[in-house]
Amino acid sequence: MFFVLLATLLSILYSDSAAAVDTITVAQPISDNETIISSSRAFEMGFFSPGDSSNRYVGIWYNDETRAIIWVANRNKPLVNDSSGLVTISENGNLVVLNGQNEIFWSSNVSNPGSNVTAQLLDSGNLVLQARNNSETLWQSFQQPINAFLRRMSLFTNVKTGEKVQLTSWKSDLDPSRGNFSAGISLLNIPQVFVWKNNVPYWRSGQWNGREFIGISNITTVYLGGFELILNEDAGTASISFEFPIDPTTYFVLDPQGNMNQLAREDGTRRWVNRQRYPENACDVYGRCGQFGICSHRRSPICVCLRGFEPKNLKEWRGENWTSGCIRRRPLKCERVNRTGEEDGFVKYNMVKLPDLAERTPIHEDRCRGFCLSNCSCLGYAYDVGIGCMTWSNNLTDVQQFYSKGSDFFLRLAHSELGKD
Ligand SMILES: *[C@@H]1O[C@H](CO)[C@@H](O)[C@H](O)[C@H]1NC(C)=O
Ligand SMILES: *[C@@H]1O[C@H](CO)[C@@H](O)[C@H](O)[C@H]1NC(C)=O
Ligand SMILES: *[C@@H]1O[C@H](CO)[C@@H](O)[C@H](O)[C@H]1NC(C)=O
Ligand SMILES: *[C@@H]1O[C@H](CO)[C@@H](O)[C@H](O)[C@H]1NC(C)=O
Ligand SMILES: *[C@@H]1O[C@H](CO)[C@@H](O)[C@H](O)[C@H]1NC(C)=O
Ligand SMILES: *[C@@H]1O[C@H](CO)[C@@H](O)[C@H](O)[C@H]1NC(C)=O
Ligand SMILES: *[C@@H]1O[C@H](CO)[C@@H](O)[C@H](O)[C@H]1NC(C)=O
Ligand SMILES: *[C@@H]1O[C@H](CO)[C@@H](O)[C@H](O)[C@H]1NC(C)=O
Ligand SMILES: *[C@@H]1O[C@H](CO)[C@@H](O)[C@H](O)[C@H]1NC(C)=O
Ligand SMILES: *[C@@H]1O[C@H](CO)[C@@H](O)[C@H](O)[C@H]1NC(C)=O
Ligand SMILES: *[C@@H]1O[C@H](CO)[C@@H](O)[C@H](O)[C@H]1NC(C)=O
Repeated sequence: MFFVLLATLLSILYSDSAAAVDTITVAQPISDNETIISSSRAFEMGFFSPGDSSNRYVGIWYNDETRAIIWVANRNKPLVNDSSGLVTISENGNLVVLNGQNEIFWSSNVSNPGSNVTAQLLDSGNLVLQARNNSETLWQSFQQPINAFLRRMSLFTNVKTGEKVQLTSWKSDLDPSRGNFSAGISLLNIPQVFVWKNNVPYWRSGQWNGREFIGISNITTVYLGGFELILNEDAGTASISFEFPIDPTTYFVLDPQGNMNQLAREDGTRRWVNRQRYPENACDVYGRCGQFGICSHRRSPICVCLRGFEPKNLKEWRGENWTSGCIRRRPLKCERVNRTGEEDGFVKYNMVKLPDLAERTPIHEDRCRGFCLSNCSCLGYAYDVGIGCMTWSNNLTDVQQFYSKGSDFFLRLAHSELGKD
């Protein structure tokens, strides 16, 4: 739906010149009225204006009726009311966007790119900068993505250096400048995909178990095995890409409202349809029910406290403000001053989205329960064959009741709370 809307809103000015050139060089720059087209004509690059805006941006779009924009160069610095722009290779060998006065509006910013540099638009949608005397890629648009995540692209994170390749939303459908949302991989203990709103978690995929993200209940099965996540725990890096043989044209867009949309070309047409969208219901929004709450989009109200917990602020909670979350009613045995009495136990939740901030221990399933019991800060545990024993300490946040898929979660409670509601 987003792209049906966008396609109507965008009136891209382009020239359908017969010469299908796919490369920009010093001798072959493109001006406002010109474009380059990738060799199989899948993608086109040139100047465009979103909607009836007078701002001129340089971008890459699908070369079909959808004209869906997948990349923007000068997103934060448009040429205003100015059709004298030029995309060229500068004297120092960088790809640049200039106005008629030769002022730089955007640059690929490579240091010492070398001589005879060219920028080629590939059939993957990637724009690649290369020097003729050097086979290495100097720069590529796929490593500086905007809001679109395409096949053959990777999102990346390095927790040691802080280096990241992430998506960032447009401010609005008519303004490609940087919006409030970003999306990428988080590598805290176990990899997860996140959407952040102004750097605060807004949605998460749930933990990666080597095959799939276990916090997405409603993923269409044909997409299940399509993600590839390459994890290097020693180096502190993770990268993710995808390939769905059944749906080769599909790609993801982070829209200005923070939704991660999976779009695909409708059979036999050139329209984009929305295959899935996350968050997909009110409970998908991160931490909806606060700490120690559990969310169910089929219940009203959607939030309740976990067993053995009660609202921290009853008045707020009854007013459906769940941000303060819940607190434990009866202390665990190890927390009590008087440590006599029965051992703590566990209550089992079926089919849930496991809480965030899991810690992973590579021990057998049989030992997971005892491992949790032996440490007073352990609040609960879960086991996944691909991950191992997961435990939680400090708090339980972003738990959701699913109605298909999901994991079993064992919540630790004082003995006197077991069997109660
Ligand atoms: C584009 O405009 C320039 C002048 O701004 C003109 O010289 C050139 O011929 C035009 N190119 C095409 C393909 O129309
Ligand atoms: C752009 O140019 C048009 C016509 O020349 C003018 O009416 C309009 O005010 C200009 N807009 C801006 C933002 O300068
Ligand atoms: C290029 O460098 C300039 C100056 O350091 C900076 O303002 C600009 O944002 C950089 N552009 C890109 C695309 O990184
Ligand atoms: C390519 O040429 C430039 C300028 O002549 C030079 O500085 C650079 O070292 C060369 N690169 C390679 C890989 O030969
Ligand atoms: C750039 O390439 C052209 C032909 O490919 C060659 O004639 C020229 O010497 C090269 N320029 C430099 C500075 O390497
Ligand atoms: C982005 O976030 C800021 C700060 O929370 C807010 O003022 C602004 O309205 C938001 N912008 C959009 C487009 O939602
Ligand atoms: C699951 O996804 C389908 C399509 O993606 C959607 O129509 C349906 O409402 C979703 N189900 C739930 C429970 O959210
Ligand atoms: C909900 O409660 C929190 C914590 O007391 C408070 O900061 C916030 O303003 C409340 N939100 C609304 C919408 O009342
Ligand atoms: C500790 O608790 C048990 C039962 O809960 C009770 O029988 C015992 O007297 C208590 N001991 C102390 C020192 O309070
Ligand atoms: C108990 O768990 C916490 C949180 O994972 C950890 O920091 C602590 O070292 C553990 N304590 C023991 C004795 O293993
Ligand atoms: C939950 O605990 C983590 C540390 O494990 C902390 O960073 C986070 O702020 C806590 N969340 C809340 C809502 O307090």
